Amino acid sequence: MTESAPAKIGIVTVSDRASRGEYEDRGGPAVHEFLSNVLTSPWEALARIIPDEQPLIEQTLMELCDESGCCMVITTGGTGPAPLDVTPDATQAVCERAMPGFGELMRTVSLKAVPTAILSRQTAGIRGNALIVNLPGQPKAIGECLNAVFPAVPHCIDLIGGPKLSTDKRVLAAFRPHK
Ligand code: MTE
Repeated sequence: MTESAPAKIGIVTVSDRASRGEYEDRGGPAVHEFLSNVLTSPWEALARIIPDEQPLIEQTLMELCDESGCCMVITTGGTGPAPLDVTPDATQAVCERAMPGFGELMRTVSLKAVPTAILSRQTAGIRGNALIVNLPGQPKAIGECLNAVFPAVPHCIDLIGGPKLSTDKRVLAAFRPHK
């Protein structure tokens, strides 16, 4: 990837009702708004709205990482304990390596907001040169979770061979350890 090519970031809303158009997708736009406020380097969103079907979620994640060249894919929804909630299972199935710190930190900060944060099985992992991170479906949860983990995301993307992401320090400072 050249310096000036925009970083591609997948935003995947996993919701039966949103995918059928019965419910307005609020999760995907909340992720988009967060990234627009934080990122100062060029980036491009690849948005998808899909039902809670594990094979389709896996296929979407693989397409965004392998064919579309996303350096990061953020999912929203389908992380709970209900039988329909299979986003973390699809994420684990397509990732070569788990990144358990993301889920641990997001649950820790979310517990300060709601006791039901322990119900989210949200996880993260690496597929090729892409970082996949799960968020709950609640729009409020999206900012809470991303504010907690995003300071470490640009360095993670550096380490897996992705583009250099820059953030607006007044909104969120990326942490890159000095070497
Ligand atoms: N995390 C935050 N920060 N805020 C929330 O409102 N909701 C919880 C949990 N994590 C929540 C949260 C609830 S009620 C559930 S059931 C799980 O996320 C899973 O939500 P999901 O199925 O929409 O992914």
